[in-house]
Amino acid sequence: MLRFVTGNEGKVREAREYLPMDVEQVDYDYVEVQSDDLAAIAARGARESFHELGGDQPVAVEDSGLFVDALAGFPGPYSAYVEHSLGIERLHRLVEPEDDHRAAFRSIVAYATDADSVDEAAPSGRSDTDTSTDWHDGVTVEDGVAVATFEGAVRGEIVPPRGDGGFGYDPIFEHDGRTMAERSTAEKNAISHRGRALAKLADWLAAQA
Ligand code: IMP
Repeated sequence: MLRFVTGNEGKVREAREYLPMDVEQVDYDYVEVQSDDLAAIAARGARESFHELGGDQPVAVEDSGLFVDALAGFPGPYSAYVEHSLGIERLHRLVEPEDDHRAAFRSIVAYATDADSVDEAAPSGRSDTDTSTDWHDGVTVEDGVAVATFEGAVRGEIVPPRGDGGFGYDPIFEHDGRTMAERSTAEKNAISHRGRALAKLADWLAAQA
């Protein structure tokens, strides 16, 4: 059984589609450290949650954000704050005068478990050719707890808002001619940054067996 630490039921539903084990939602509010590196934020959150929840079951957390190339990756780890303060239309207006409208949604899934149960050398299986990232999947072991991180990304362009589906930045993020808000949930999940990170975790778990 895996404890998925999030207040977002949609993330848990998506995790259940990819992972082989039972996934239980746990609404624990871990401390989000300040960093421009999503992997560091997610790894710290997973480690803290694993300890706080008793240290007897694997724990996963997911952290994601929108990274705009022309804005040096802004809003990145601050995506939730910017969504609720500026709003997505103002972010679009910030990007509009730039020559380059490219952006990426990125997701890190961090999985914490007892280090004795982990084969650190196991591969995550999929190479993510649709990303250009500075982050690397990997395992860190500290005080007998292993934390493995998996990155997924989807690239696209910032456009004027279109579509009623999805959430967050979906209406201003176009991939392959349609915004994420113009896709059904299943269509979006099939290409989503979170789906790609979860698929890597699933492959890694299979390679652990
Ligand atoms: P969190 O990882 O749930 O904290 O999300 C960080 C920010 O990124 C929030 O503003 C979300 O709305 C946004 N975000 C994360 N994933 C997506 C997505 O799939 N579509 C649109 N916005 C997203």
